[in-house]
Amino acid sequence: MESVDNFKGIFKYYKSNKPKPSFDDVISLVDPSKLTDKVSKMTLSNITEDNRAALLGLRKTNEWELYSFHDHPGLFLIKNPFTALGQRYWIRKCLETYPRKPNKLNIDIETLLPDWWAKCFETGQCNRQLQKKLRWTTLGYHHNWDTKIYTDENKTPFPEDLAELSDVVAKYLGYSCFRAEAAIVNYYHMDSTLSAHTDHSEVNLEAPLFSFSFGQTAIFLIGGKDKSREPSAILVNSGDVMIMSKEARLCYHAVPKILSSELSPWDDKEDLCLISDDDTLLRFISDKTLLVSSMNKNYKDSVWTKFRDYMKESRINMNVRQVLNETQNSLTDYHFNDT
Ligand code: OGA
Ligand code: MN
Repeated sequence: MESVDNFKGIFKYYKSNKPKPSFDDVISLVDPSKLTDKVSKMTLSNITEDNRAALLGLRKTNEWELYSFHDHPGLFLIKNPFTALGQRYWIRKCLETYPRKPNKLNIDIETLLPDWWAKCFETGQCNRQLQKKLRWTTLGYHHNWDTKIYTDENKTPFPEDLAELSDVVAKYLGYSCFRAEAAIVNYYHMDSTLSAHTDHSEVNLEAPLFSFSFGQTAIFLIGGKDKSREPSAILVNSGDVMIMSKEARLCYHAVPKILSSELSPWDDKEDLCLISDDDTLLRFISDKTLLVSSMNKNYKDSVWTKFRDYMKESRINMNVRQVLNETQNSLTDYHFNDT
């Protein structure tokens, strides 16, 4: 059968500046009551609060709003479950920490920088040109953009804090066995796009994919298993968490447009408060005191200036995946259950 690319037309439509697209068909969860034919608000079932959540910048689940999409079974969106301080923490991590070695960066082929963010401020002023060059960082099992194959050799330790965050969110959604093993951190500027693709490199394609977004708003397109299906457009705002599971896990998706948002939830003064250490047990993070201080050091507006400036015209997306099957410890490990 001849397959038609209906995805491309919609991508081009939303990417276009001239003429400007209409947003009438874009699903926005800012006022979901208008969208009863497209989305449903779900309740998180049988939830026991996880004490780790507050230390990771997450709100209590009674404040969470979880949505499912009628035309996209398996796709879910949690409307910003982060506190203002939580957003600041994760944004700062993506800028200051994750681009450090041994993690891999798109700019490695040009210049191997041990610390990209520090380099951007080396002269005392901000090197915007260098700042704009960073488009992605990979963590854990490094995504190979050419072969699309993960290997045990091309792997570095996955950040403990992001593993902890993913574990908490996954458990709330009922995925008790999820393991964060690979992540792509995408950095978007106002003119960046991400073309239509599926994420199919992982050995384990049953495990869900968790996508955390911060900064400016994206139009996110999601279609079907091939490009013949016209995609739906969804607005993804700062703090939103998308979950691609089941049927949605292997669907084509893309980001044709970044839009300036009027909101900056990381600066929401009413919401900004320090966290306190308690007797919570963490699963992945070895130094809890360090986590608490790394979180709280973002409280003062003045220390956050550099990050705020960057986020004014950027979007960051942390795309977290499980690579291995539950019974595997490495890619060469085949402990299949069906002996
Ligand atoms: C990806 C991806 C989507 C986004 O990294 O594979 O699809 O929202 N990112 O940036
Ligand atoms: Mn993707």
